[in-house]
Formats: sequence, C-alpha cells, structure tokens
Amino acid sequence: MISKEMEKAINEQIRAELYSSYLYLSMAAHFEADNLRGFAHWMRRQAEEERGHAMKFFDYLVERGGRVELMAIDAPRTSWSSPEEIFQEVLEHERKVTSLINGLYEKALAEKDYPSQIMLQWFISEQVEEEASAEEILHKLRVLSGSPQGMLILDRELAQR
Ligand code: FEO
Repeated sequence: MISKEMEKAINEQIRAELYSSYLYLSMAAHFEADNLRGFAHWMRRQAEEERGHAMKFFDYLVERGGRVELMAIDAPRTSWSSPEEIFQEVLEHERKVTSLINGLYEKALAEKDYPSQIMLQWFISEQVEEEASAEEILHKLRVLSGSPQGMLILDRELAQR
C-alpha cells in the first residue's frame, strides 16, 4: 500500500500532467489560428502524450491501492508573440516538470518506496527526451529567425510527428 504522502504527491503530479496537456492544446489552438498546421499537429500530439503521462500516474496509483483525486486545472495562456516564444515556454515548462519528477523520486527514495522509484525511472528518461526535443525545435527556430521559407519547411517537418 502506498503512503498517504506519496498518494497526495502523485495526485498533484496528475494535475501537473493534465495542466501540461491543457497548455499544449492551447498552444495547438494558437498555431491553428496562425495557419501553422504542422506546428499545431505537433502540439496536439504533445497534448495527447501529456494526457498519457497523467494516465500512467493514475493507473499506478490505482494499482498500489491509492485513491485518485482529481483537482482543478488552471486555465492556460492563450496567446504568444511568436513560435520561438512558444517553444521557449515549452522548454521552461518541461524543466519545471523535470524538477517535479525529481522531487517525487527523492520522496520515493526517502520513503524506501521501491515500486515508486521504478515507476518514476521511466519518467526521468522521458523528461530527458522532452527537454531535448523542445531544445532542438527552439534551436531551429532561432537559426531560421523568422525566414518564411524556413518556417514552411519546419512546419512540414513538424507535421510528420
Ligand atoms: Fe509529462 Fe512533458 O512531461
């Protein structure tokens, strides 16, 4: 049986993952409005992935005999000044999520909660990927620095996700 404290922390993480999903869906809506369909597609996929992360925690908590309690999710921001600003925010957001995951792992270590440690290792690797992909796109956007042709090529590339 999982500890009450870990149960609470995982419920908070479920909220954080659902907020991430909501934030990326809002970014998808922004890209749709800007006619950048490939960027929008990438964000929609990202939003789905975040919902998947929330469900991984949800299922884990159920499996450990914990009680899932969903909390209110804040409204995300709805507009940005450029794709570069968006991906800068994605990167900062993912770094924040990484520190939340690290905090959960430290809690699992302190509690000698071995199953939670194993479950969280997947998320630790996932965060490395999440940060790397945001960094890669941000780098490309900086190199392009607003070139319309470059943006079209990148939009097409992101549509492949
Ligand atoms: Fe679920 Fe992007 O972290």
